[in-house]
Amino acid sequence: MTEPVVVRTRAELADRRAAVPGTLALVPTMGALHGGHAELIRRASALAGTVAVSIFVNPLQFGPAEDLDRYPRTPEQDLALLTELGVGLVFAPSAAEMYPDGRPAVTVEPGPLGNLLEGASRPGHFAGVLTVVTKLLNLVRPHVALFGEKDYQQLALIRRTVADLELGVDIVGIPTVRDPDGLALSSRNRYLTAEQRTQALALSRALRAGAEEGPNGAGAVLKAATEELRGLEVDYLALRGVDLGPAPATGPARLLVAARVGATRLIDNVPLRLTKGR
Ligand code: PAJ
Repeated sequence: MTEPVVVRTRAELADRRAAVPGTLALVPTMGALHGGHAELIRRASALAGTVAVSIFVNPLQFGPAEDLDRYPRTPEQDLALLTELGVGLVFAPSAAEMYPDGRPAVTVEPGPLGNLLEGASRPGHFAGVLTVVTKLLNLVRPHVALFGEKDYQQLALIRRTVADLELGVDIVGIPTVRDPDGLALSSRNRYLTAEQRTQALALSRALRAGAEEGPNGAGAVLKAATEELRGLEVDYLALRGVDLGPAPATGPARLLVAARVGATRLIDNVPLRLTKGR
């Protein structure tokens, strides 16, 4: 197996990018790679001749009281996985390389969708995400970029950004990869003790229980999910339309949750179908 070419500067990236023949897919990540990232990369390989992965823990998207300093970093394991998956190019810049003048003066503002749900709990988070994703797309210039539905609001905002700013790249969303017991894979799962991991299963259980009540309407969905979340410190439980607008009376919808397990904040969401209003 050949190791990917790892570049750390924008100049090296430009050189290597120019030499990529055919189509290029980008999978942006913050590293500490797991099976969810691996699935994005596999799907990327099916869509383009070369896959590029970026690894950058983006300071701009972390709040002052958040986990930037202790965010897991596993560079050796990441490189081994990327080699196994046949990734061609890895862009792993430093913060100084991405933000040479410090905090950028001009950023990508998410608009109204950025103030709901995750945006309400994490002020400035989505401006940080959209700014770095826009920069990565401009630096790597992929034909297609892949993102997980695990971060459903992030995916929706990235689609909005690409459309509103004419970024000219295809955005592909990939369903959430879960452990067999239902827990959505996340780099932050590493923070959980065994006992907390068991508690964390309530999130996916709640979403499943809620989705099963789709035929009985919104009230039943929220009631079933709320029951499973008893005892957890819930940040939000929300039933929305697929575009994160108000939930429709009938038709496809999305159920989203954020909750704290110990000091770790976890998020998850599922699709569901509402077939009867009550
Ligand atoms: P990170 O949390 O590393 O996630 C990178 C990509 O993997 C995101 O698109 C995320 O939605 C996806 N992903 C994470 N867990 C997943 C799972 N269990 N199943 C499927 N996909 C999953 O999200 C970010 O990094 C950053 O915000 C980033 C977009 C890189 C910008 O900094």
